[in-house]
Amino acid sequence: MNVRCFDSPEQATAALAGRIADAIRDRPALVLGLPTGRTPISLYAELRRLHAAGALDFSRVSTFNLDEFVGLEASDAGSFRQYMERHLFRGVNLARERIHFLDGAATDPDTECARYENALDAAGGIDLQVLGIGVNGHIGFNEPGDSLISRTHRVTLADTTRRDNAAAFGGDAARVPAEALTIGMGAIMRASAVALVATGPEKASCIERMIRGPVTARLPASFLQLRRHVEVYLDRAAARRL
Ligand code: GLP
Repeated sequence: MNVRCFDSPEQATAALAGRIADAIRDRPALVLGLPTGRTPISLYAELRRLHAAGALDFSRVSTFNLDEFVGLEASDAGSFRQYMERHLFRGVNLARERIHFLDGAATDPDTECARYENALDAAGGIDLQVLGIGVNGHIGFNEPGDSLISRTHRVTLADTTRRDNAAAFGGDAARVPAEALTIGMGAIMRASAVALVATGPEKASCIERMIRGPVTARLPASFLQLRRHVEVYLDRAAARRL
């Protein structure tokens, strides 16, 4: 893994924003995989800034978000769709028809997962997959377990994950949906490039295990060791055990 360590979280996300901007300039019709969470908030702010400065054109870019909570309409304030609207989509010139999202309110989640997997295939897979990481080593919502699932699927969220996502639900973990739909490990592993960002001391342990630990379904991000190339953007706090 190609690990880059920066003095501050803002520097790490600004460097990743520069990496994404270069990829879009090289390939204007880039297929970009996107995460949510606290970590990428400053990443998306920097992408909006680059766009506003006239330095970045999203008009031909396609996006696929990693995951969405089950049971939430796209218009729900706690949905990842609304997070993306706030932090990126409203601030850049992405074509609406090229924004791809799992529908957490779909009546048949299995059909919805199959639809998303087909849309990923039709797009030719992901060119650049941007990832965060959960403190338990999840990527997207591929949670630790006895095994991992390759295709887009429905998942029961770990208690720690619901607690970590409570902020968008008035700080109440009990209000965080118990299930989500997520891209599987297959689309992530097949992406042409993967760039993972982690900041803050609470990520130091999972980052150490991701890079130095065994490849195990107990830490889904460890599977990234099997890729030829992964770029890892860290601040000092997240890198302190390396
Ligand atoms: C969320 C998302 C992940 C994200 C992770 C870390 O629940 N499903 O894609 O990477 O958890 O979030 P944060 O950046 O807030 O620590």
